[in-house]
Formats: sequence, C-alpha cells, structure tokens
Amino acid sequence: MTSHGEAHAEVNQRRPVVEKRQPRAPLRLPERRQLETSHDAHSCAREPLTSASAQEGQSVAAVSESCRQLTKGELFLQSEPRPNAPPLPACLRSERRLYFDTAQHQLYQAACALLKRTGDRLGTFPAGSSVTPLEDFQPTVDVFRSFKARQILYRAVAEDASFLEAYEQLVCSVVLPYLKGMLEAHERDCPSVAGHAAFADESIAGGGYHVAVSCRAAGSFSSPKRFFYQFPPSVRVQPGPRDHFGRRHRDAEYGHQEGEINFWMPLTAHVLTRTCLWVESTPGAHDFHPLDIPYGCIAAFHGTLCQHFVPPNSTSYTRVSLDFRVGVDSYFDPSWQFKSAKAQHGRKEMSL
Ligand SMILES: [Fe+2]
Repeated sequence: MTSHGEAHAEVNQRRPVVEKRQPRAPLRLPERRQLETSHDAHSCAREPLTSASAQEGQSVAAVSESCRQLTKGELFLQSEPRPNAPPLPACLRSERRLYFDTAQHQLYQAACALLKRTGDRLGTFPAGSSVTPLEDFQPTVDVFRSFKARQILYRAVAEDASFLEAYEQLVCSVVLPYLKGMLEAHERDCPSVAGHAAFADESIAGGGYHVAVSCRAAGSFSSPKRFFYQFPPSVRVQPGPRDHFGRRHRDAEYGHQEGEINFWMPLTAHVLTRTCLWVESTPGAHDFHPLDIPYGCIAAFHGTLCQHFVPPNSTSYTRVSLDFRVGVDSYFDPSWQFKSAKAQHGRKEMSL
C-alpha cells in the first residue's frame, strides 16, 4: 500500500484558473550533435542504475549524455515544407499552469478503471486491496519502453468510453476556454491581429500575461475560435525502479507543428514517484526544470519547439501521466502533414 490517500488529500478543487510559472534555478544540458539511427521510440534505456536511490537530478545528467544526437526527424524537418500558418502569439508559447476541479473531472479515477479493464495485459494492482492507488500499479510488460506494450495501452485508451468522456470534458470545459481566453487577450492587446488581419505577434514582449480564465469567460466576446485537440490522448505509465527514461526531444521531430500547445498532467503523486516531465522554458534555452505539479494541475508549454524529457523512475512506485496537444485556431494548419512521420496523433476539431 502506498500513502495514496495522504498523497492526494491536498488535491486542488478550485475552479479553473491559470497562473504563470514561477522561475526556478535552471539546469543546463549540452547540445545534440550526432546522428541517431532511429527516432521511433520516445523512451530509451541505459546501463542499470548503480543505486536504487539515485536522485532525479542525477538521472537528468544521464539523460543528457544519452541524447546528444540529431534525430531523423530533425533532419526531415529541414527538407519538408512548413505549415501555412502564422507563428503563435508569444503569450501562448510561454509555459503556464492550469488548475481544474478534481471532483468534477475525475481523470484519476478514470485512469484506475482504465488500467483495471486491461486485465493482465498490462499489469495488476495489489491483490486484496480495497483501493487501487495508481502508484501501486504493477506493470507486467514494459509499458514504458516497448512499442508493442504501448500499443496495447493506446488501444485500451481509445476503446475506453468513460475515460475518453472524462478527458473530453476536461478539454472542452477547462483547456479550450483557457486557450480562447488567451487568444482574446492577445486580440485586445494587439487589435491588428483580430480577425486574422495580421500575422505578426512579436509586439507582445515576454508573453507577460497573467490571465484568469473561467468557463464563463469563453464565448463572452470575440469570434468563435477553432481548436484541434488530440484524440485519444497519450497515457504514460512508467514503473520503477527502472533505468528507462524518455529521451530529450521536441515534438517537431514527430510531426507536430508550431501552432500546437502541449498539455501535461500527472495522475500520480510526484512526492511518491519523484519523476516527472522536464522542459526548457524557451527553444534552445536548455534551462530544464521539472513539472513537479500535483494532480489537479495541468502544465501548458510549447513542446513543439521546447525540448523535454522524462528521467528514470528510481522509486518503487509507478508514475502515470496524461498528455495531449491542441492546435490553435488559424495558427494551426490542419491540411499540413509531416510526410516523414511514421504515425500521427488522431484529433478532433471544435469551435468555441
Ligand atoms: Fe514530446
């Protein structure tokens, strides 16, 4: 048993609000400079950890050493045509955090039910337990690294109507209103861009917005906005203690375009798993920092261009997270395709 109840006792149940990330001490990583033979898997492995108590910061250094490479995706990016869309406003490219009501949006419970429904295809929960803390899920297959195992998880997510319903409710009542609010704030501050009259966005210095968004804000003014959200979302299951990590990359390597925003949220408690996504604040900054946010919080960042990775999970707990991307209005070109990508995320369109 984990201290699951305690870990989630402080779950936030506020209405959706948005805050800008507080700066923290950066961790710098070296440039990549060699060719990589394959970019199919996001995750990698290295030599076993010498100590099960290896700290997250030490693991980060190992990820750095293993990812000093230029991938096929980066090479293809240099030769393929780019999307026909203007650059995202700076306010949307900066990292932010959204909070949602965990009583209303029960993604944690939906994820538990999802993994239970997979039976023994992916793993099991402790026998005899009346509760099913996600952190105690014990994968029986290499669900973090194995392509075959990840396909099982992908299909399980795609076939789970309850989980998908919870996901779409979160997207449509929290995430898309946030994005619409940011677009409207951008138009108010820079009227020339309203109605797509102009593409230039750099007049807003530093993305210095602090925006509070509620569901009521959406639709209160301005024209409808089009959004293209990933469907189904990506669920990551990272058991520990293992030496596998998610390699450092930017999503442009995998066919995502600059008009998309990444959203990442933990479903397990960082205080237990001590593992989370690390991101840089701006493309090429290499000031990597952990998104050590609690359940009930969603991190928004521009993962198409900002590099990110996941260090090994050195604890005995399993980390589970949810991530997805949203294409934003006219900044997203739905007709564009990255021909070199082996697979593309499915998506749905919605106007708000
Ligand atoms: Fe990514």
